[in-house]
Amino acid sequence: MAAQAPTLQVPKDAELLQAQSDLWRHSLCYVTSTGLRCAIKLGIPTAIHHLGGVTSLPDLITALSLPPAKLPYLRRLMRMLVTMGVFAKADTASDGTTELFRLNALSSILVDGVDADEHHCQTSFVLAATSSHYLEASLGLSDWFKKDFGEGPPPSPFEEVHGVPLLDENTASLNPELDQLVIEAMAAHDNLGIGTIMRECHDLFKGLDSLTDCCGGDGTTARAIVKAHPHLKCTVLDLPKVIHNAPAHDVINFVAGDMFHTIPPAQAVMLKLVLLHWDDEDCVKILAQCKKAIPSREEGGKVIIIEVLVNPSLGPIIHESQVLFDVVMMTVTKGGQRDQSSWAEIFKKAGFSDYKIVKKLGARAVFEVDP
Ligand SMILES: C[S@@+](CC[C@H](N)C(=O)[O-])C[C@H]1O[C@@H](n2cnc3c(N)ncnc32)[C@H](O)[C@@H]1O
Repeated sequence: MAAQAPTLQVPKDAELLQAQSDLWRHSLCYVTSTGLRCAIKLGIPTAIHHLGGVTSLPDLITALSLPPAKLPYLRRLMRMLVTMGVFAKADTASDGTTELFRLNALSSILVDGVDADEHHCQTSFVLAATSSHYLEASLGLSDWFKKDFGEGPPPSPFEEVHGVPLLDENTASLNPELDQLVIEAMAAHDNLGIGTIMRECHDLFKGLDSLTDCCGGDGTTARAIVKAHPHLKCTVLDLPKVIHNAPAHDVINFVAGDMFHTIPPAQAVMLKLVLLHWDDEDCVKILAQCKKAIPSREEGGKVIIIEVLVNPSLGPIIHESQVLFDVVMMTVTKGGQRDQSSWAEIFKKAGFSDYKIVKKLGARAVFEVDP
């Protein structure tokens, strides 16, 4: 006899209405991403900046050279983006009726073409994250879950759908524009907030005589560190193709190499936004190489790690962004975002004796890991 299906508990009226709104929000929230992409493609944040940071819709239409008939449609797009926190409404104009829109903190980091200290335009991040390649990988997630890849770590859904991994020397053969966009997006993402780290974590580098910035890219972070700590002997390790294009610096020592083989020795090795790109097994290998590069704990050796620390107590917005980012990392790479117990496990497996969180900065945390 067939087993009887369990009775479904139907939600109460108020719950049902709330559930339907929640379902609309979750099913349609891609419109926030595509609307944000549309705003960037049209150049809305930069246009508002050139208009003095505040604009009416007719002025915006003119600045963007859009057909005047599109004004009512632009109003609807802007209403959605204001509601989602991308732009803000300003007080109405002096006539008391014309609605005005302004940049807020989020849209200000989407202003292009501004050369200012600590401004790292994030448009490439949005364009990469909303690219058809990322979205196709996301749409392939259920097929990826069903497929048995056998022993060992499976390819990422991105690799499964597109045939090559992201952030790989073969990614350009899939699409050179995407490859370049993702490189730019990663640099923009990783450089944002260096000033905050230097202000909030000044003591982190105090007392150190040498530091290796492992996977330090073009040396942007290392330049900020030696500016604040001129006595520090700083080495940047990255792959040859990156180091050969890095701008020279009279104090920083640039070394081309592979962190899985060897890391230039220093009193401290720093990994800033590196481990999120790797699975646990590779993180343990990277950290084991870091341990070889530093002296003992008694001699002041340490590894400095700056990474996302997934934590529900950071409030719904930050925590939501952390877990969304984690699933994106799972979809397009083999990496992910980790909570404290996952980090502790990795540090232990790599042979470190202890660690402490020296600072929490929004979604990220700064760890000091002791050999
Ligand atoms: C996410 S970025 C690092 C971000 C950088 N630490 C920052 O905060 O700006 C990743 C970097 O790791 C480098 N990389 C990848 N594999 C590497 C390896 N095996 N050895 C050294 N560097 C590597 C890449 O070339 C890239 O510059």
